[in-house]
Amino acid sequence: MLSMIRFQKVSSLFFILLFLVSCKQNEKPVAPAKETITAATYQEAYRPQFHFSPPNSWMNDPNGLVYHQGIYHLFYQYYPEAIKWGPMHWGHATSKDLVKWEHKPIALFPDEHGYIFSGSAVVDVANTSGFGTENKPPLVAIFTYHDPEGEKADKKDFQTQGIAYSLDNGDSWTKYEGNPVIENDGIKDFRDPKVFWDDKSEKWVMCLVAGDHLQLWSATNLKSWTKMSTFGHKKGAHGGVWECPDLFKLKVAGSEEEKWVLLISINPGAPNGGSGTQYFIGDFDGERFTTDQKETKWIDLGTDNYAGVTYNNTPDDTRIFIGWMSNWAYAQETPTETWRSAMTLPRTLSLQKVGKGYTLFNYPVPQLNTLMDAAEKKDRMVEIGAKDTISFDHLNQAEIKFETTSKDFVLSFKNTKGEELVLTITSDQKLFLLDRIVSGKTDFKEGFANTIQQMPIDKLPEGAYEVRVLIDRSSVEVFLNKGQYAMTAQLFPTEHYTLLETENTGASPLEMKNLEINRLKSIW
Ligand code: FRU
Repeated sequence: MLSMIRFQKVSSLFFILLFLVSCKQNEKPVAPAKETITAATYQEAYRPQFHFSPPNSWMNDPNGLVYHQGIYHLFYQYYPEAIKWGPMHWGHATSKDLVKWEHKPIALFPDEHGYIFSGSAVVDVANTSGFGTENKPPLVAIFTYHDPEGEKADKKDFQTQGIAYSLDNGDSWTKYEGNPVIENDGIKDFRDPKVFWDDKSEKWVMCLVAGDHLQLWSATNLKSWTKMSTFGHKKGAHGGVWECPDLFKLKVAGSEEEKWVLLISINPGAPNGGSGTQYFIGDFDGERFTTDQKETKWIDLGTDNYAGVTYNNTPDDTRIFIGWMSNWAYAQETPTETWRSAMTLPRTLSLQKVGKGYTLFNYPVPQLNTLMDAAEKKDRMVEIGAKDTISFDHLNQAEIKFETTSKDFVLSFKNTKGEELVLTITSDQKLFLLDRIVSGKTDFKEGFANTIQQMPIDKLPEGAYEVRVLIDRSSVEVFLNKGQYAMTAQLFPTEHYTLLETENTGASPLEMKNLEINRLKSIW
């Protein structure tokens, strides 16, 4: 029997190889992602059910986040031919509600200037670019060209900026014949343009990263750009290259005050290792970003929220963020087979004054609640030193939510194989800990799970606060006090978690108010 199975395996391997060889010989243009979906897609092991992931192949950063005519666009770094990083394209998906996504054909392909790296998209309402008309404003994508030949030849100017436009709300794209619109005068890492319209100075502003700092450029027509200023030498974290900037204005909650937020991803150099996203709160006068912020702040202390940026042109000016739910330290080795990686849940950003400083809150968009079956809310009490276990079959695709005043408990998500994800909060150390050391498959990359991830929580309120945990097959997202603190991490349990154990490690009974455990429906 065993040898029979082995023979079948060997022979099917032979046919797969034969198929691959013949494919290589009659090389066809790459099929759009949309056409590769079958009934088995989204049923694979580890496949997220309520997060966006590409139908197949490799994905990294979110790109070109823009809302136009009732549609949220999500473009993304995509290599359609493998589940490893390669010549970058812009994959494309759309959504009406940021919950369900429809796959679209690939939007941008590499060309003679190079691969298509990260960037943004705007609605050119007044047709400043001349690509459309005022009645038919174009969508304009602004991205980095990465020339692999230049890189190989050890040149320093192989990253330049290009633009493309669409007159049919993102379905088809034309590259501008005057590309590149920004040349490179010798900076190796010169990329990831985020463009927005600045009402005050009445011009387009572009944030561009240049190795260890940010550059701000401006244009009136999206084509002729002038450098205005720089920011960031010796500010914030510099453990790695600066990537994927974003700059936007937010009202400080409960006041009329407005501040500007600058997001900068860095890789490596994040507090829990590898890739992470820091932010600065300050002011922007149309030309220059300034801040008196002393400490380094991070949008998410987990290991798997990188290269996140926000939507342009959203209704009511809500600021919505999406990050790539991975980390360059191991992104190319994770144990999925037909696709790689997912995006974080779309999150609403808000600014709050906490103590003397400002904190950027990030919390899942409310539309997500449409995926939840109405579950009962119950108050639950766990005695001092006790362990309380709840069994729930769908813990691998669920939300757990409650309010508490305690900062001393442990939540363990377990399966029958002894695998567990352990979340701990301790008032002594003022820390929240995420432990994925025995959470499932971890041996695909040394260092994926050899330490416990830590998040200092010294500014968590004294009274009641909300604990919200979302688990989706191969990820966990934790939000404390409605997004004051967030932690996102990938994990690969080889069997679903079905038990939730709560241990009270505090000195008084643990009250969990309005405890809800909800199953989330699949979006696919
Ligand atoms: C961030 C990043 C960007 C770059 C892209 C390439 O993850 O390194 O700086 O544009 O990925 O895929």
